[in-house]
Formats: sequence, C-alpha cells, structure tokens
Amino acid sequence: MKKTALITGASRGIGRELAIIFARENCNLVILARSIDLLESLKTELQAKYKIEVYVIVKDLSKPQSPLEIFEELKQKSIKIDYLVNNAGFGKYGFLHESGSNIEQSMINVNILSLSLLTKLFLNEMVKTGFGKILNVSSVAAFQPGPLMAVYFASKSYVLSFSQALHNEVKDFGITVTALCPGPTKSNFLSNAKLEKSRLFKGGNVAKAADVALFGYRAMMKGKPVAIHGLINKILANSSRFVSRNLAVKITRYKMNSSKKIK
Ligand SMILES: NC(=O)c1ccc[n+]([C@@H]2O[C@H](COP(=O)([O-])OP(=O)(O)OC[C@H]3O[C@@H](n4cnc5c(N)ncnc54)[C@H](OP(=O)(O)O)[C@@H]3O)[C@@H](O)[C@H]2O)c1
Repeated sequence: MKKTALITGASRGIGRELAIIFARENCNLVILARSIDLLESLKTELQAKYKIEVYVIVKDLSKPQSPLEIFEELKQKSIKIDYLVNNAGFGKYGFLHESGSNIEQSMINVNILSLSLLTKLFLNEMVKTGFGKILNVSSVAAFQPGPLMAVYFASKSYVLSFSQALHNEVKDFGITVTALCPGPTKSNFLSNAKLEKSRLFKGGNVAKAADVALFGYRAMMKGKPVAIHGLINKILANSSRFVSRNLAVKITRYKMNSSKKIK
C-alpha cells in the first residue's frame, strides 16, 4: 500500500520541491498552504505525471486552531499520515522595535506553535502504529542568535532543539524526527522577509530549493536527527561552537547588515 506524506508550505519553494520528490517516489500527498491556486495546479500536475492521490488543504497556520482542524479533517477522510513535513515558515528582516505589525505573533504561530502541535498530533498516531518519519524545516539560523531577525533565528533554534529532543524520545518506537537546516536558498523567502539588503544572500552560497529538498528527503528517509545542507553551512554552523556567543552575535550582525560596521 502507498504511504502518505503531509507537507506544509507546499505551494512554493522548498515545500513544493519536496512534494515533487515524494510524488516521484510513489507516495500519496496531502499538500497544505494558503494559496489555493498554486496548490490546485500542483495537484493537477502531480496526479497527471505520477499515479498518486493528492489531497489539498487550504489553511492558515498562523491561526492556533489550524493544526487540530487539519488533524480532524484527515481523520474524517480516513487519511493516515506516514510522513509529516513541517516546512511552512517565514521571517522578517529589521529591528524588532521598529516592527509596527503583529507579524511576530504570526511568525511564532507558524514557525513554532503549528509545527509543534502538528508534530504532537501525528506523532501520537505514529507511535501507535510503530511507523512514521517527521521532517521539521529549521535553518542554519538555528545555531546562533540573529540580530535584525531576532524572532526568526530564535524560532529556528526552537525547531532544532525540539526536533533533536523528540528524535531521542521516539527512536525506540520506530519513529524518526529530522531537523533540516538549509542555508540561504533561492525561493520567495528572501523577498517575503525583505532580506535583499543583507549580506547573507550576496555572493555564491545560495542553494537551489530542489537541491535542499532532495537533501532533506534523503536525510529524513535515513532517519538522521540533524541535516545541515552544504559544506560551507556545515562548517559555519559548527564553528559557532568554537567562538564566544558574543562574537557569534557580532559576526551574524555583520552578515545580516548591508552597510554598517560591527559595533
Ligand atoms: N529560503 C531560505 O533561504 C531558507 C533558509 C533556511 C530555512 N528556510 C526555511 O525553509 C522553509 C520553506 O521556506 P522557502 O524558502 O521555501 O520559502 P517560500 O518560498 O516563501 O515558501 C514558504 C511556504 O510556507 C507557506 N506559508 C507561509 N506562511 C504560511 C501560513 N501562515 N500558513 C500556511 N502556510 C504558510 C507558503 O505558502 P502560502 O504563502 O501559499 O501560504 C509557502 O508554501 C521555511 O520554514 C523557511 O524558514 C528557508
């Protein structure tokens, strides 16, 4: 029998590429995001190309009730989830004190709350059946504090810590939890976060979403607890262990800034 993957943030970027990989690997899909048109066209494309079922859920993960609604809807449809990919997420560039909106609340709800609740709900089912794999999309941002994107960096540290702890809790039940840590990757993330000015995305170290997705898929299938994409990102993520936290903050501020000197 075919397995089923639930992928959040599947309308574009890394999530869309992950959906294509799961479809290619003969897996049925539940694809979720807010953009109905993008999800429906992906469904049409994947069902035509591969012999799989694709179920679309249009949901805003910044609403705290969304995870339970998703779980109940799938239960009602008798769709059992074997692979959960918590990929949806976003960031916002700038000083927190200058942010006029309540975007940070939405960010915490999408990046942390929804991811945690979906994990808890589906993990419970997975443990009962003795099979399941979870891929939580974190970031290289998880490895140090990030001035000018303070909430985003902290949210990704949460995802890394949460995923590693859960991996340890459930591995003896036949379940694995993988934290995927991409570095800068070409997608809508950059313009959404208004990150164009930052040094972070300048230079050659910007990965393709398809490459990051394939790397994440393979790490998930192998049951690796942490998967950092790209050699330079691996070195940078690990190097934060060898410098003081103060210096790590200053270096990150330099990379996040476009013009100002380190203070
Ligand atoms: N790109 C990078 O440089 C980079 C680096 C490290 C980590 N990441 C992480 O990788 C993941 C995927 O990002 P990406 O680069 O592929 O960015 P993207 O192209 O902007 O895709 C983000 C996805 O998340 C969905 N999403 C955002 N807010 C949502 C909400 N409130 N409810 C439901 N879905 C929502 C979007 O769908 P809709 O807009 O249709 O809702 C979209 O499908 C994120 O967790 C991001 O933090 C990205």
